Amino acid sequence: MRFVSWWPVVFHNIMSPLSLYIHWPFCLKKCPYCDFNSHVRESELEQERWLQAYFHELDYYKDRLKDRKLVSIFFGGGTPSLMSEEMVERLLGYINDIWSIKEAEITLEANPTSFEAEKFKAFKRSGVNRISLGIQALNDNDLKFLGREHSVSEALGALDKAAGIFKNYSFDLIYARPHQTLAQWEKELEQAIKLINGHISLYQLTIEKGTKFYSAYQNKEFELPNEELSAQLYEITAKMLGKEQLYPYEISNYAKRGYESQHNLAYWYYQEYLGIGAGAHSRLRLADNIIGRQALMNIHNPQQWLKAVEEKGHALQNNEIVGQIDMELEMIMMGLRIASGINKQLFTQETGKNLLNLLNIDVLNQLKESRLLEEDEHSIRLTIDGMLLHQSIINQLVI
Ligand SMILES: C[S@@+](CC[C@H](N)C(=O)[O-])C[C@H]1O[C@@H](n2cnc3c(N)ncnc32)[C@H](O)[C@@H]1O
Ligand code: SF4
Repeated sequence: MRFVSWWPVVFHNIMSPLSLYIHWPFCLKKCPYCDFNSHVRESELEQERWLQAYFHELDYYKDRLKDRKLVSIFFGGGTPSLMSEEMVERLLGYINDIWSIKEAEITLEANPTSFEAEKFKAFKRSGVNRISLGIQALNDNDLKFLGREHSVSEALGALDKAAGIFKNYSFDLIYARPHQTLAQWEKELEQAIKLINGHISLYQLTIEKGTKFYSAYQNKEFELPNEELSAQLYEITAKMLGKEQLYPYEISNYAKRGYESQHNLAYWYYQEYLGIGAGAHSRLRLADNIIGRQALMNIHNPQQWLKAVEEKGHALQNNEIVGQIDMELEMIMMGLRIASGINKQLFTQETGKNLLNLLNIDVLNQLKESRLLEEDEHSIRLTIDGMLLHQSIINQLVI
């Protein structure tokens, strides 16, 4: 990638789809496993100042992108359910003046405390039409271990509230926790299945550098399930959800047909997205007939992001072109995360290359024989067993 300091030429992709990500970087408490750009505030937050900063960032991009069709908005964090009802309403109103939000999927990530669940109705009135709740575990001991602020009964209350207000809601669980047996997870999953509407995200616990869990794990304060048990946990998960017509449309995301998160699919289909807020990323198309994407990244630190936006109207830290080779690799990596895989025709349309020419055909055939990968005239895709080995398959497969 190389650094560019200009906006690439004019755009011709009128009405091509665009997704918008809004990062809210604050939480009530930092969870010991989390390395997201999320921070605990010591003093009261001036939400008005942050709201104005989002307006400035939107102003900065609007002339360039206002002709796109906005298909999804995602409030992620941090904990966006800590935003005030008024802030969400005014922000969506501002966005609606640039693009119409009428047909967009609008998701807001929420923590399941009763204080946050009280805001769901107001969020819905503002246009939010999908809630994603961070439940994480359905037993109180593990919630405590994960450092969460809510109990199981509070989580169930928030889910119940979400179900009464939103047609479309999802929740997250983290599994492959220390000491978790296959039988325990099966039991918890049975309980979870009864609570699913059409979508659930299930993440295996990962130990990220810089988190409290990282040092605790290094000091052998706890152990994680070994590779074999992790694989069994993944397989039983896919099997149990499969019986309920919830298919793994992405490695960690399961949905009934029609309930897939449009916003996440936009990332995995390599569609255009704009990210605003601290640390947010964007991938924007270059002008027609130019292969590549523009990759933008905002300043990570929330206070520095705020200062930069107030001074310059934007907080860009990186502005690069994703060149041909990097783009091909990104498309392969994203495409192999999803059940529908990489669409060969779309790949050629975007990159000008034949997908198969970029892959080691002997490895491809071995993967097919081992039932880790499937191929037909339209696409190549990983099977459930293949998804478990996503990164190592890419390492072997791409020439
Ligand atoms: C931005 S965070 C969640 C937002 C919200 N603040 C919450 O905690 O519910 C998105 C999701 O990533 C998952 N996650 C974060 N760190 C993880 C880790 N180290 N291992 C597995 N899942 C993780 C959690 O399930 C979390 O709900
Ligand atoms: S998991 Fe959610 S609540 Fe916990 S620190 Fe990360 S973003 Fe905040």
